[in-house]
Amino acid sequence: MVDLAISRRAVLMGAGAAAAWLASPARALLQAVGKVDVPPFVDSLIGRMTLEEKAGQLQLMASAWGGGAALSLNPPGTGSDFQQQIEDARQGRLTGVFNGNGARMARMLQTAAVRESRLKVPLIFAADIIHGHRTIFPVPLAEVASFEPDLARRTAEAAAFEASGAGIDWTFSPMVDVARDQRWGRGVEGGGEDPLMGRLFAAARVRGFQGADLKSNQHLLACIKHFGAYGAGESGLDYNAVDMSERRLREVYLQPYKAGFDAGALSAMASFNEINGIPSTGNHWLMTDLLRGEWGFQGFVVSDYTGDEEMIAAGYAKDGRDAARLAFLAGVDMSMQSGLYRQFLPDLVRGGEVPEAKLNESVRRVLALKAMLGLFDDPFGRIDEKREAARSMLPQTRALAREAGRKAIVLLKNEGELLPLPRSGKKIALIGPFAAGPHDLVGPWVVYGDDAKAVDLATGVRGAVSNPASITVTQGSGVEEALAGGIDQAVAAARAADIVVLAIGEDSGMSGEAQSRTEIVVPAPQQALAEAVAATGKPVVVVLKHGRALALEGAVANAPAILATWFLGTETGNAIADVLFGAYSPSGRLPASFPWKSGQEPYYYAHKPTGRPNPPGELQPYKAHFRGIPNSARYPFGHGLTYGKIEYNGLALSSQEMPANGSIQVSATIANRGSRAAEEVVQLYIHDRVASITQPVRELKAFRKVALAPGQSEVVRFTLTPADLAFYGLQDRPVVEPGTFDVWIAPSAEAEGVHGSFDLLT
Ligand code: NOJ
Repeated sequence: MVDLAISRRAVLMGAGAAAAWLASPARALLQAVGKVDVPPFVDSLIGRMTLEEKAGQLQLMASAWGGGAALSLNPPGTGSDFQQQIEDARQGRLTGVFNGNGARMARMLQTAAVRESRLKVPLIFAADIIHGHRTIFPVPLAEVASFEPDLARRTAEAAAFEASGAGIDWTFSPMVDVARDQRWGRGVEGGGEDPLMGRLFAAARVRGFQGADLKSNQHLLACIKHFGAYGAGESGLDYNAVDMSERRLREVYLQPYKAGFDAGALSAMASFNEINGIPSTGNHWLMTDLLRGEWGFQGFVVSDYTGDEEMIAAGYAKDGRDAARLAFLAGVDMSMQSGLYRQFLPDLVRGGEVPEAKLNESVRRVLALKAMLGLFDDPFGRIDEKREAARSMLPQTRALAREAGRKAIVLLKNEGELLPLPRSGKKIALIGPFAAGPHDLVGPWVVYGDDAKAVDLATGVRGAVSNPASITVTQGSGVEEALAGGIDQAVAAARAADIVVLAIGEDSGMSGEAQSRTEIVVPAPQQALAEAVAATGKPVVVVLKHGRALALEGAVANAPAILATWFLGTETGNAIADVLFGAYSPSGRLPASFPWKSGQEPYYYAHKPTGRPNPPGELQPYKAHFRGIPNSARYPFGHGLTYGKIEYNGLALSSQEMPANGSIQVSATIANRGSRAAEEVVQLYIHDRVASITQPVRELKAFRKVALAPGQSEVVRFTLTPADLAFYGLQDRPVVEPGTFDVWIAPSAEAEGVHGSFDLLT
């Protein structure tokens, strides 16, 4: 990915573009892989280890404490009891545990390891700190809607601060799988459909978790997962096979992993899926040739939960021994939960099927990381019950959750400027299963968060209006089942009110692992509720709860105002109320396109053109579209309105020609003609008209968030260089080809904005 091959046409342009790419900051960033320091004592320690102790350093297990949070969040594995786990620590049969329960548990296990085991090697404590520890931030996908990578750095840092106070050294995060099929449930954990956003947020989160020094007891080791292309499973079915060209793999799906490693992440998790017939866990090309050889990764790789063992059911390994051998030889250093490494690696070495030198290499990586985390200096450095309590849910962390929450909200539609709502003088009916109550607030993939400590919508709304008694709350429907009499009650509440806020969508269990959906719609009973409420004629603001982009229908799609609010975490109600009543002017943008219909999936804005594109407007016969709908999104990637009235004018190019070794500036004037302040996310897209490999209809290359007071305008400038125009050529390496490029500065991936073109010269 960092090599620049020059194609036939690019050769014509000389070395200029290559030089520009080589000198570009983007490339410098791509090369800054994290370095592992191996202290001298590590090798002498390895020299004193038995084969069993070495294999023990490569075996991670779910914490068995009190039933174990880990086991309730994963399918039942070969869980042991906690006393057995203490014994395993004493015997050196365990490298660490994950998803345990705080500093007290960690202290017991760590004591067994460093006071009672033969070699006193400290354990490492891991957890799925996906979007917060005790204070829960918006789900990762929602946070990407902020189009503010630094926000993700800050929330990751705050999560690390809380978690590292609770005895946790290592987070299984960030999840950076590009997700272009909204049927897949795990898109909620990642960076959305676009590789540039994926890269930026992967890097930001790694920096936030790891900080400048892994030894700090305020930071955690990050883990890039799920390597690789886990988000591309056929038909959006979780765990499903991926069959994909190497070009697409490199150009789209591998990009965020690479960015995470380049930002310094020193661990990675193998994905469950296969790529082109080979499960990632057993894929030598992926785990060794590419990751270590080509990318220079120095950290260690852990399997996913029983991922090694699952190669048996996948038809790649014949039994547990074979699975351990295949995974280990492919380059997976550590096994999660199956127990196969400690069971079989010693014997595989004795039998000559696994070289001991390779075993030593993996142990060395793991011990080096434990040293870098400060565990040999002070095995209890992050284990402190008092600090755990003192760092938990501090006001400043909750304030950050509220900031992140409101920045994640996307205003999809606002006809007649229904929003923002007045704070007084109107009766508001909050209707829907998500209107009130301590449920579905923290959202999916939370180990330690608590809905009971989060603010629901009703509480947020009541706190924002001058007379809380003017707010009524009616459930109206269950999430996937109707509620007896619910619709009648909701209709009565709507009739008695001036405005309806309809809180509907998906609950926490409908996205996340193993939660693929065939229809990405609002569930039928809630749709019926929406139809009935809309029929009252009252103005309806739809507040969607969702872990994916949805295909909106009927009264939901036709409501005059729609807010995409995802799962926002601890400060849900306050963040939504901030936007509803105008304390904050919405600035979020979709990280994933909302299609017209479920059947369009996988739908993503950066699709290829066809030879028969349908021109905008009327649907034409024998042109590319499904029956009855355009080949576009209802709400595309990048879409989001503000409370201002934003206009794009005056595209200007510093030149119509970009020299092969130069750059051009592209600018547009962005004005706020409305009466309210706004923050606009100004986006730059390109399209390469003719290339030796056909190119997407548009690709995001840059964006900037600008704050505009009423009446204010600003010229927003971007610089493009040949490196921005590179694509993966015939040899699956980046190439730059001269020719004509379209450029748009626009408010979304499918909005016209302002448009021009330029030529890249030879
Ligand atoms: C399985 C999930 O795929 C992975 O993301 C997670 O980190 C592990 N379980 C551990 O809980």
